[in-house]
Amino acid sequence: MPHLLAVSLLLFLLQGYANAAALPTCASAQAALTAQLRLQPEQLQGCVQLSDAIVLRYGVKGDIATFAIQAQLPPKTAYLGVGLSELGSMKGADMFILNATTSGTAAAPGWRLVDAYAPGFVRPVADKQQDTKLLGVSSTSNSGLIAAWQRHVAPCDAQDLPLPSTPIHVLWAYGASWGYHGTVNRGSSLVSFLDQPLQQQQQQQKKEPLSVTAASGPAATSSNVAAAAGGAAAGLPAGVKVLELTYPVTIPEHTTTYFVQYFKLPSNKKYHILRYEPITNSQLLHHGVAYSCDAKAAAAVKAMKSLGPFDRFKHDMQCEQFYMLVVPNTTAYDAPQSAGLPMGTPGSQYLALELHYNNPEGLTGQKDKGSGLRVYYTDVLRPHDIGLITLQQPVLNIPPGQAVLRSNVSVCPSECTAKFKGPLTLLDGFFHMHGLGKSIITRRFRNGTELSPVGQLRSYDYEFQGNTPINSEARTLLPGDTLTLQCTFDSTSRRNMTRSGPATADEMCFHWLSYYPAQEDMGLCYSFGNRPFSVCGASMPKQLSDALHSRNGTSNVAAQMMKLLSDGVLLPAADPAEGSKPYREVCSSKPVA
Ligand SMILES: *[C@@H]1O[C@H](CO)[C@@H](O)[C@H](O)[C@H]1NC(C)=O
Ligand SMILES: *[C@@H]1O[C@H](CO)[C@@H](O)[C@H](O)[C@H]1NC(C)=O
Ligand SMILES: *[C@@H]1O[C@H](CO)[C@@H](O)[C@H](O)[C@H]1NC(C)=O
Ligand SMILES: *[C@@H]1O[C@H](CO)[C@@H](O)[C@H](O)[C@H]1NC(C)=O
Ligand SMILES: *[C@@H]1O[C@H](CO)[C@@H](O)[C@H](O)[C@H]1NC(C)=O
Ligand SMILES: *[C@@H]1O[C@H](CO)[C@@H](O)[C@H](O)[C@H]1NC(C)=O
Repeated sequence: MPHLLAVSLLLFLLQGYANAAALPTCASAQAALTAQLRLQPEQLQGCVQLSDAIVLRYGVKGDIATFAIQAQLPPKTAYLGVGLSELGSMKGADMFILNATTSGTAAAPGWRLVDAYAPGFVRPVADKQQDTKLLGVSSTSNSGLIAAWQRHVAPCDAQDLPLPSTPIHVLWAYGASWGYHGTVNRGSSLVSFLDQPLQQQQQQQKKEPLSVTAASGPAATSSNVAAAAGGAAAGLPAGVKVLELTYPVTIPEHTTTYFVQYFKLPSNKKYHILRYEPITNSQLLHHGVAYSCDAKAAAAVKAMKSLGPFDRFKHDMQCEQFYMLVVPNTTAYDAPQSAGLPMGTPGSQYLALELHYNNPEGLTGQKDKGSGLRVYYTDVLRPHDIGLITLQQPVLNIPPGQAVLRSNVSVCPSECTAKFKGPLTLLDGFFHMHGLGKSIITRRFRNGTELSPVGQLRSYDYEFQGNTPINSEARTLLPGDTLTLQCTFDSTSRRNMTRSGPATADEMCFHWLSYYPAQEDMGLCYSFGNRPFSVCGASMPKQLSDALHSRNGTSNVAAQMMKLLSDGVLLPAADPAEGSKPYREVCSSKPVA
């Protein structure tokens, strides 16, 4: 009896002790890391609360990044993974894995740090080259798990991601055994690791609204919305009008559904969209894209009996000009002070709102009463229009069974950018391919020298659409610069040739760049297949589409194109990579000392 009493007393005490261990905060993490792992506070200036139970502290000095976590995880947790990801997908994520080892005791296991990467939605595998250095790890019931490690900002290792000058997604997950963590024990936040000069920081803040709100950040609040309904949304001029673009759907049981509905936009005159934000009424909403309809597509949409919603897999979408992005759980996107996104112009009288629902558990009867976009617009126009340039490779012939198939390089030549009236400020980029997309890059050349890329996704995932921020050093595009776009595909899943086209089974290779001030007659800039000329202008010249589709009674397309080139309808374009000084990514190959 006394024995049992002692045991229950001990259990009671232990429980009390466990309950006393508070959930971590940025402050508690800093205290524990400096006291127990002897880190200097200035090594860990940055902090993000990844979840109620996990805090990440970080700091960058020179080319060394320090990462540290404090986490209160369930007993017998087998691993905690923290990863860097370009679009928030696990595919291609660069992971740090704290893996419990069998040494140590069940109550206080030993932990090993593994530098790993995730080739897909599968268990991460250790990098061939280990680039991390564990500074210390400790696991007590009071402080929970604390650990700190270092890595170069940009290791020379294709299995690592360099820390960018823009925010990057930080993923986390943990599990009771080395395997799938389930849908609960995981999450992601956007984190800016690198300090930036003031001017770039200001630009960053304008971009901030597209970030997934960290637990500590402000969410799009209902007071904000209430204020908007009253006509004066926070930070916007009086008289701004609000437009809600949403539609109700019943979400099918299958994993992936894309719905599309067309909307007629206010177009009695020209407006400026100053802000837009997501409206999310279903937890199954994955993301959405609003495409504006050019005049031709608008005519087709106007002629339709029903504007939708319809299943994207069953009907092709008419409108393909990227316009706005719906990312659930993010705050508003604000246009820069001196510019607005045009609405009501001939190319923006209709839009197609595509919403992607993800229902991995096959839930039945799920309804969304209406998700989409809330758009704040005004007829008091700002000095500049925001413009969009479409880069694309329209000729794609992808043979089946290729693990790495590169498209032809599509060139936006300096003869085209030379028509800019002055330097452009790039705001955002949006890459788009379909299911075979593997990676994508837009390179930048100036006067015979390749500069850092305008953007790239080293690991593309169709399931994770999102804006790709432009690195601070690449935000100015000068007249005379040349851009080249190249897509890489993996066609091992296909039996037949895949070609470019709008259907899901077709492929695409797009990079839309938003910028200001908008340049007149500047919507497209790209070349075709490997042909040495490019289109440059507001839209596709009719003679060219006729020639491409051999609609002119002659099959000699190449000869017709050469004629268009000599007529100045097309511009000469050659891949500038040949004969240019190549860009070399700066990276550190030595281990962290
Ligand atoms: C983590 O540990 C388990 C065994 O406990 C091992 O199978 C797995 O490979 C380890 N993970 C990594 C990334 O090293
Ligand atoms: C948005 O937030 C809700 C509530 O926190 C969550 O259930 C949902 O999964 C989130 N959606 C995405 C796409 O992150
Ligand atoms: C390219 O070089 C020429 C001649 O050196 C110079 O005049 C021009 O400004 C340069 N252009 C850019 C964009 O740097
Ligand atoms: C491939 O093409 C053949 C002939 O056109 C067709 O019969 C077959 O269904 C296609 N296979 C796939 C997997 O699309
Ligand atoms: C490259 O361009 C040529 C000519 O336009 C075309 O025949 C070829 O199929 C293209 N390659 C790919 C991979 O699309
Ligand atoms: C197509 O034919 C018309 C009339 O025959 C001609 O004027 C035009 O230049 C042709 N276009 C091309 C691209 O050859």
